[in-house]
Amino acid sequence: MLSERMLEELNKQLNYEIYSAYLYVAMENYFQEKNLEGFANFFKVQMEEELSHARIFYEYIYRMGGKVTLYPIEKPEENFESILDVFKKALEHEKTVTQRIHKLVDLAIEERDHATNAFLQWFVNEQVEEEESFQKIINKLELIGDSMQPIFMLDSELAKRTFVLPAPLAKSE
Ligand code: FEO
Repeated sequence: MLSERMLEELNKQLNYEIYSAYLYVAMENYFQEKNLEGFANFFKVQMEEELSHARIFYEYIYRMGGKVTLYPIEKPEENFESILDVFKKALEHEKTVTQRIHKLVDLAIEERDHATNAFLQWFVNEQVEEEESFQKIINKLELIGDSMQPIFMLDSELAKRTFVLPAPLAKSE
């Protein structure tokens, strides 16, 4: 059983995960327009991951006897200055997500809601991976600078990324 406050906060996070997907579609668009299909693929997969995160919240809310509430999805930023700018903004976004997940954990601890605390631990670990994945690409881009040849090589590398159903959803199949 979820408290009213916890239910509201979980619903807000479900909305924020969908907003994250929307933001990553905007980033995918940036690369589609530049014909960098590997980078575009990276953000397409990122969008799919975010929708799966929203789904994990969705299923948990119903398993706990709660009700999902849908809120409007905010329009994401669409103006990016460079490839590096996109990845820096994506990393900043993921840091915001991390803070939000940590606040949810704080609330679960405050309410002695052990089930929700355990549920959220998957997201705590996932956020470490999310931030690491963007930081690694930023590090590469900073080394590369403006040379196009290594950018095309990175594009080929990012074209290989595929969506893998996250463990909490794989288990519920
Ligand atoms: Fe759902 Fe990228 O965190």
